[in-house]
Amino acid sequence: MRLPIVAGNWKLNGSRASASTLAREIAAQPVAGVEVIVCPVAVHLDAVARDLENSAVKLGAQNAAAQDSGAFTGEVAVPMLAESGCEYVIIGHSERRSLFGEDEKSCAERFAAVVRGGLIPIFCVGESLEQRESGNTMSVVQQQLQAVFDLSGASAFSNAVIAYEPVWAIGTGKTASPDQAQEVHQFIRGFVAGQDQANAQAVRILYGGSVNPGNAAELFAKADIDGGLIGGAALKSEDFLSVCNAASH
Ligand code: 13P
Repeated sequence: MRLPIVAGNWKLNGSRASASTLAREIAAQPVAGVEVIVCPVAVHLDAVARDLENSAVKLGAQNAAAQDSGAFTGEVAVPMLAESGCEYVIIGHSERRSLFGEDEKSCAERFAAVVRGGLIPIFCVGESLEQRESGNTMSVVQQQLQAVFDLSGASAFSNAVIAYEPVWAIGTGKTASPDQAQEVHQFIRGFVAGQDQANAQAVRILYGGSVNPGNAAELFAKADIDGGLIGGAALKSEDFLSVCNAASH
């Protein structure tokens, strides 16, 4: 049985004070049977780590450099994230890919850096609306995963999480239906199995894209959906905790 994960991606939101308040509210209401992660902006990590002390809630970052140090202005390296208390790092979010030019190679290199540094990547894949409508969903997702396998080998996901986030469902209020999401999750697990059978059964595959307290339970009930990566609904503790409860079993 895979332990579900609900991870809150806070994106570029909040002040240090509001991040601390949100973290404390979440930490104060433990949810059993689900791994709960929050991912604030990098400059709030240290503060949020203190707010989460003595709680089961884990800390994640929203990105990491491919390099461990050096002349890479504006980047944050994995060893630095580890020092701030991070256990997880989101890699390859569609906003990084589409708005900041991170291509498949860059995402794969960042993924490898996270693993090398002993943290756990949450690797995002997903198709645009145009790609879905032209029938290319599976090939797009496969190509995004393949870049990681090419660089890190067949057991790349032995200690990693995958998040399927259809780009058209992110921040739009348009969720993939549970069947639409399950179809892609099943495909992803099958593709991982083609590389490493044991790994495929263990890897947790999260769904992301307009998950909220009203649709979470139906999505999480699907066989290959092991929780969620939550944007908007992760910014209110009540909504986020309700989504966490929907994943708990
Ligand atoms: P929303 O939940 O706001 O659609 O965002 C999803 C997301 O991008 C999480 O990484």
